[in-house]
Amino acid sequence: MLAPMAELSHRALRELIERFSRRRTPGKAAPEYFSEMISVPALLSGGPFEKWYLDGEPCPERLVYQLLGAGERSLAAAAALLDRRHCLGIDVNMGCAAPAITKTGAGVRLMEDIDKAGRIIAALRRVTKKRLSAKLRLGPSPSRQRLYGPAAPDAEIPGAGFEYLLKFCRRLESQGVDFITLHPRFAGEKFKRRARWDYVKALRKELSIPVAGNGDITDPGVMEKRAREGPVMIGRLAVKAPWVFGPPHTRPLPRNQKFLEETALTFLDLLALYQPPEFHLSRARRFFRYYCDNFTWAEYVRNKINREKTLQGMGRVIQEYCKSISGEEAL
Ligand SMILES: Cc1cc2nc3c(=O)[nH]c(=O)nc-3n(C[C@H](O)[C@H](O)[C@H](O)COP(=O)(O)O)c2cc1C
Repeated sequence: MLAPMAELSHRALRELIERFSRRRTPGKAAPEYFSEMISVPALLSGGPFEKWYLDGEPCPERLVYQLLGAGERSLAAAAALLDRRHCLGIDVNMGCAAPAITKTGAGVRLMEDIDKAGRIIAALRRVTKKRLSAKLRLGPSPSRQRLYGPAAPDAEIPGAGFEYLLKFCRRLESQGVDFITLHPRFAGEKFKRRARWDYVKALRKELSIPVAGNGDITDPGVMEKRAREGPVMIGRLAVKAPWVFGPPHTRPLPRNQKFLEETALTFLDLLALYQPPEFHLSRARRFFRYYCDNFTWAEYVRNKINREKTLQGMGRVIQEYCKSISGEEAL
């Protein structure tokens, strides 16, 4: 599954991934795509850009819309709107820890109150029969308690251990959630600390619904290993290497300059086609933030791209860089 990522998990990226994944081995499951988070207030008030967030192509039957909101009524109203669209499912963001989001009571703040989170799932369940899911972190606060280990001094703090996570998930399960994605980090942890996959494994054992794991899948080998254990969701790697959704022999990193250049230019074309002009620069910069890691001189290319004011200019930076490197490779 492609992870929900603000300014990244839009139609242009899905179109790019589909080009690789169409070459997948026959009989192998096609990827599912989570949308970037959709703000409930903006959706309900018919914001000017909502049609772009709601564009479910190129494969709406495999698209899951992710909602970001804080109130059960408004979330249910938004879910009722989405229920009328062609899509696979509706997901509730219970994991975003960005301060701008948590101060509104949304994202991981929903993990602080088990009763409220349960009411939200129950309210959504009443308005939709689509697949209903929630994307979580380990909880609102980091824990010194070891998994199943002896109680630590902060064990009583809500959200401070596996027991709390399990209780939280069981409540969502009892209210009708169909599956859960766990990004096993606590609210305050950015990407510095490693994702704790032990928690994903432990949760899978305890729940009767599927649990997808997400976090730190940094190369195709890790992806394949994790995928043998259960469903996986891929975030930043999907941007750096969208071809990992293709058949196994096409997945490896790194790739040659020609391939990297063509993929980048294809993405820029898709962005121009499927996102509004107001989004072009921010979305392209966000994409190259991760994609440039494929290049030996990643920081140099990224800086040059960030200085450009048009998609065409960004394309030229990529072409010139790849040409100079191919020249060096030939020497
Ligand atoms: C740029 C960016 C935007 C993100 N936006 C969202 C979002 O809209 N909703 C969400 O649930 N998670 C969001 N996330 C978190 C990812 O879905 C994912 O949990 C995280 O990146 C860890 O997975 P990874 O190591 O495979 O990248 C975002 C992450 C990044 C890097």
